Amino acid sequence: MIDLRSDTVTRPTPGMLRAMMRARVGDDVFRDDPSVCALEERAAAFLGQPRALFLPSGTMANVTALKAWTQPGEAVIADRRSHTVRYEVGGGAVICGLMFDTVDMPDGLLTPEAVRGAARAPDVHQPVTRVVQIENTHNLAGGVCYPLARVRALRRLTRAMGLALHMDGARLANAAVAQGVSAQEYGRLCDSATLCLSKGLGCPVGTVLAGPADFIERARRIRKMLGGGMRQAGYLAAAGLYALRYHVERLAEDHAHARLLAEGLAGVPGIEADPAAVQTNLVFFRVAGGPARATELVTRLKSGGVLVSLLGPDLARAVTHLDVRRADIEKALRAVTRAMRQR
Ligand SMILES: Cc1ncc(COP(=O)(O)O)c(C=O)c1O
Repeated sequence: MIDLRSDTVTRPTPGMLRAMMRARVGDDVFRDDPSVCALEERAAAFLGQPRALFLPSGTMANVTALKAWTQPGEAVIADRRSHTVRYEVGGGAVICGLMFDTVDMPDGLLTPEAVRGAARAPDVHQPVTRVVQIENTHNLAGGVCYPLARVRALRRLTRAMGLALHMDGARLANAAVAQGVSAQEYGRLCDSATLCLSKGLGCPVGTVLAGPADFIERARRIRKMLGGGMRQAGYLAAAGLYALRYHVERLAEDHAHARLLAEGLAGVPGIEADPAAVQTNLVFFRVAGGPARATELVTRLKSGGVLVSLLGPDLARAVTHLDVRRADIEKALRAVTRAMRQR
């Protein structure tokens, strides 16, 4: 199978597995795990923040960050299509008691004007706006990246308004590589940032959350409350350390494969794809002929050995990653062409 459903489907490489097996471990709830401590130190530097915390997932990292910045009844500003709004089971509302003031950005990227417009007035009737949350890369907007200048402008505004700027950086390493900047440059403009190790970076489990020391101590307690305090987590942290060392620069390869895929898809009759819109490793495409035809395509591709996701009635997503080679892209394109020819 060529699995293009997500970059979360990767298996650890032999080198990563060796690093995991050699890990020195301890009980991380007692802060005794040297590998977790080393990962947290490395991740803090990588994300340009004083401290970091290792968590099981991106979802837990986002809800932990939101809870650490807010009190129940407060408000967070986010794009309508952001992962926290669409795909985190309402955790921001249930666990943190937050209101999401969503804004509809055509390209998924918040602007200072949009934030100003969505911020609540200091008025006894209204919740207090506390956090601005941005997603980089933005999944549902097609894997697009925030230009550094935009984050800088948001930083200036949130500072002036006394709001926390949280970056859901599930694919921040992809954004950094695509934009030719370091993750640190992005991270230090934010008050907190996440990075998923289990997506493009190829780890089996894990996300790091970075921020100031007092924020990370609050986050540590919240993680424990959510059941995310792990014990000999150093085996997983060792995979993270390996990934930060060996799997960041290579993301450029995934991006090149994604462009190749989009260019090929754009040439298949009945498929609508825009190669110019592909900035990182996510390729979204529409299938002409409506939802039934799109479902049919996905089913046919599966029988042909290629897996993609359907994210809307006629909207499909293919994701390149560590376990996808150029030859797989070529094979996937042949499978799409064949499937679209069938009546
Ligand atoms: C942008 C974004 N944020 C957060 C997450 C959540 O990560 P996890 O699946 O590890 O909970 C994802 C997962 O796909 C994501 O794409």
